Amino acid sequence: MSATRPTAVLRLSTPRMELRTPCQGDAGEFAAYRVRNRQAHGWTEPPRQEEYFTAGYWHNALAPVPDRAKNDTEYRFAAFLKDDPDHLVGLVNLYNVMRGPIQCALLGYSVDAGHMGRGLASEAVSAVVSWAFGPADLMRLEANVLPENHASIRVLEKCGFHRVGLMRKSLRLAGGWQDHYMYETVNEHHRGDRP
Ligand SMILES: CC(C)(COP(=O)(O)OP(=O)(O)OC[C@H]1O[C@@H](n2cnc3c(N)ncnc32)[C@H](O)[C@@H]1OP(=O)(O)O)[C@@H](O)C(=O)NCCC(=O)NCCS
Repeated sequence: MSATRPTAVLRLSTPRMELRTPCQGDAGEFAAYRVRNRQAHGWTEPPRQEEYFTAGYWHNALAPVPDRAKNDTEYRFAAFLKDDPDHLVGLVNLYNVMRGPIQCALLGYSVDAGHMGRGLASEAVSAVVSWAFGPADLMRLEANVLPENHASIRVLEKCGFHRVGLMRKSLRLAGGWQDHYMYETVNEHHRGDRP
C-alpha cells in the first residue's frame, strides 16, 4: 500500500483499488451507490429520507468533505476498482477524529452488494487502518457492529480489531434502538507527533 500526506484530498492504493477523498463531482455516483445498495445496506444503517438517494443530497453532503479532511476532523474514502475506475465499489470512513490525549476515530465502511465476498472490504479497511496508524498517527480506532453482522465482524477481525464488549441501545436503526458490539484496535507504533 502507498499513501500520501494527510492533506485535503487523500489517495491510497491497494492491489485492486484506488481510494480517495470524495468531492461534489462524485454526487451522481454516490446516489447510484445508495440506490443499488438500499436493501443490502439498509439493515445496518439509520432510516433514510428519500432525498438521501438523490444526487442533490450528495452534492450538498460531499461539499464539506475535503475541508473536514484538511481540518483533521473526519476522513472519508471512496473506493474505485482499478479495472473499473468510474464505478464506486465501497466506502471507508473515519468519523469523530479526536486529537489531544485521546487520538481516536470511529470506523465505518460498506461494499457494493454486487462485489461482496471478494475480500474488497478487508482490503480497503486494512489500507485505511494503515493510513490512520501511519501518516495520521492515531492511537486507536473503534468500530461498532451489529452482533448478527457476521461478515462485518470477520472484516474487523481480519484487520486486527478485537471485541471490547456489547454497547446496549447504541444506534437507532430502522427497527429501533439496537445493541452493537464495540471493536477496537490500537496503534503499537504511535509516534505522538500530532497535538
Ligand atoms: C460487511 C461488508 C462491508 C463486507 O464486505 P465484503 O467485501 O464482502 O467483505 P470481505 O469479502 O472482505 O470479508 C467478508 C468475510 O466475512 C465472511 N462472511 C461473509 N458472510 C458471513 C456469514 N454469514 N457468517 C460468517 N462469515 C461470513 C467471508 O467469508 C469473509 O471472510 P473470509 O475472508 O475469512 O472468508 C459488506 O457485507 C457490507 O457492505 N455490508 C453492509 C454494510 C455494513 O454492514 N457495514 C459494516 C457496518 S459495521
